[in-house]
Amino acid sequence: MYVCSCFGITEEQVREHAAEGACTPRQIASASKAGTDCGSCVRRIQGLLGRGQCPRRESLERGEPALTAAPAPDAGAEPPEPSGLPGLKPEPVETPAASAARVAA
Ligand code: FES
Repeated sequence: MYVCSCFGITEEQVREHAAEGACTPRQIASASKAGTDCGSCVRRIQGLLGRGQCPRRESLERGEPALTAAPAPDAGAEPPEPSGLPGLKPEPVETPAASAARVAA
């Protein structure tokens, strides 16, 4: 069943995000955008999250770290293409002076 009709987010998706560590409607919004448009679904999301159903909160209450470090980026990996399209390089732009000189020649 849909919780957030603005973004088509279901109860199941909210529960999946909660199982992955989202404990607040804001964290659900970060993961899915649910609640970031009209906001009418935020109370329902809060209800789905409930209290004591958050694995991360339970970890904190047990004194365990709630977050794990993200894996380090691969040192040998190539940087992303600046143009956003692999293999494409930007064309040089002809200045007005260069254009005038080309036409005059
Ligand atoms: S129903 Fe979720 S933001 Fe509108």
